[in-house]
Amino acid sequence: MGHRVLLVLAALFAVTSTQFIPPYTEDCRSGMYPPKGPTLKKAVGWYTIDLDLPPAKRWTALITDKKAELTNMIQAIRDLANAFVPSGNLIELVDITLPLMADTLPSPFNEEIKGIATASGIPLGEVVLFNIFYEVFTVCTSVVAEDDKGNLVHGRNLDFGLFLGWDVKNKSWTVSEKLKPLVVNLDFKRKNQTVFKSTNFAGYVGMLTGIKPNLFTLTMNERFSLNGGYIGILEWILGKRDGMWMSFLTRSVLENAMSYEEAKSRLSQTKLLAPAYFILGGNQTGQGCIITRSRELSIDVLEIDLKLGRWYVLETNYDHWKEPLFLDDRRTPAMKCMNQTAQKNISLKTLYDVLSTKPVLNKLTTYTTLMQVSEGKLEAYIRDCPNPCMPW
Ligand SMILES: *[C@@H]1O[C@H](CO)[C@@H](O)[C@H](O)[C@H]1NC(C)=O
Ligand SMILES: *[C@@H]1O[C@H](CO)[C@@H](O)[C@H](O)[C@H]1NC(C)=O
Ligand SMILES: *[C@@H]1O[C@H](CO)[C@@H](O)[C@H](O)[C@H]1NC(C)=O
Ligand SMILES: *[C@@H]1O[C@H](CO)[C@@H](O)[C@H](O)[C@H]1NC(C)=O
Ligand SMILES: *[C@@H]1O[C@H](CO)[C@@H](O)[C@H](O)[C@H]1NC(C)=O
Repeated sequence: MGHRVLLVLAALFAVTSTQFIPPYTEDCRSGMYPPKGPTLKKAVGWYTIDLDLPPAKRWTALITDKKAELTNMIQAIRDLANAFVPSGNLIELVDITLPLMADTLPSPFNEEIKGIATASGIPLGEVVLFNIFYEVFTVCTSVVAEDDKGNLVHGRNLDFGLFLGWDVKNKSWTVSEKLKPLVVNLDFKRKNQTVFKSTNFAGYVGMLTGIKPNLFTLTMNERFSLNGGYIGILEWILGKRDGMWMSFLTRSVLENAMSYEEAKSRLSQTKLLAPAYFILGGNQTGQGCIITRSRELSIDVLEIDLKLGRWYVLETNYDHWKEPLFLDDRRTPAMKCMNQTAQKNISLKTLYDVLSTKPVLNKLTTYTTLMQVSEGKLEAYIRDCPNPCMPW
């Protein structure tokens, strides 16, 4: 409570001052896959990131390709900051102070971020800002489910850009729209072999969504809390640097963990800068869980438990043992559709139906990713939510 309530009320005020929002819910979708029509903007394309290159060079090819889109998105953030503090002082502050912060980030992330600034020509401070943005502006839905043959499927909607400029004319979030052209699938290789794959935003070096083929799948959702991210970030700036950035941890786990159990224990035990939810799927029956994290430790792990009839675990942005905020209940409609689908009929195809049902699909939804661990499969789609559609 607290923080999140304030955030949503502020957004509600901003939005309702110009229009009335009915609860844009709908019946569970079906037959949405293969993706097409007005809720599909585009299938996401692939790039390779070679982990054998020095960190500063790894992103050069991708960023060279996406330079215009990245510049465009950063400009939208600048415009918002300048609308907020018209003197331009806010961006000046970012340009002066955040480059110093780049040096405090752990390797290889510091070098990768500098490499991105060099390749794009965007000031380093603004690339750093983009990389720490996740703290503030994401809301998501993630689900891991087991079918009746023991196959695990993992899907997620990444909803990003809350407050980042509601465009009254288009009824869209300015930054969410600018992020869509930056969505890419990445194949991280070492010695020409896939280590893991991820859906990500070009220019962002942490991971929010990924798969280690045949071993595990992982997504992260933001967990709002009053003594949450801001305190951790502030402590980092002030020099107390014993917590790990969340999306750096997920990247490190995807890169280095060699089993579901190892991933689970690292995600549970590593001290973080801010609270988070980690949604982890394994490669065998029963291996799927939501790890609810405080900054210090795991405070709860909810696992798939077929004996209890729990064949899936689903997380939005609220602790599973509490009610979601009534203004932002994506959990109930998503669970309703999962229940309606039933275990015998769950697959990437039907998971896409669930993730395409409003308000699970909303104006913030940037992409939908579907993963099947046993086949090492990851596919992603850039989404649109035609009106009428919930702003979040
Ligand atoms: C908003 O809509 C206008 C036309 O109505 C279009 O030119 C513009 O690209 C749209 N902007 C975004 C961010 O979608
Ligand atoms: C890397 O692997 C691909 C097949 O996965 C192959 O086509 C390519 O030739 C390999 N490249 C090198 C440099 O070994
Ligand atoms: C699942 O992962 C374990 C390692 O944790 C591996 O030994 C096993 O072969 C994998 N099983 C399948 C079906 O891929
Ligand atoms: C879905 O099914 C589970 C397990 O039977 C139940 O606990 C939950 O209340 C159901 N949720 C909805 C929204 O139907
Ligand atoms: C499973 O879902 C598909 C739609 O994706 C539907 O056509 C089919 O009837 C469903 N099967 C069962 C057994 O419910």
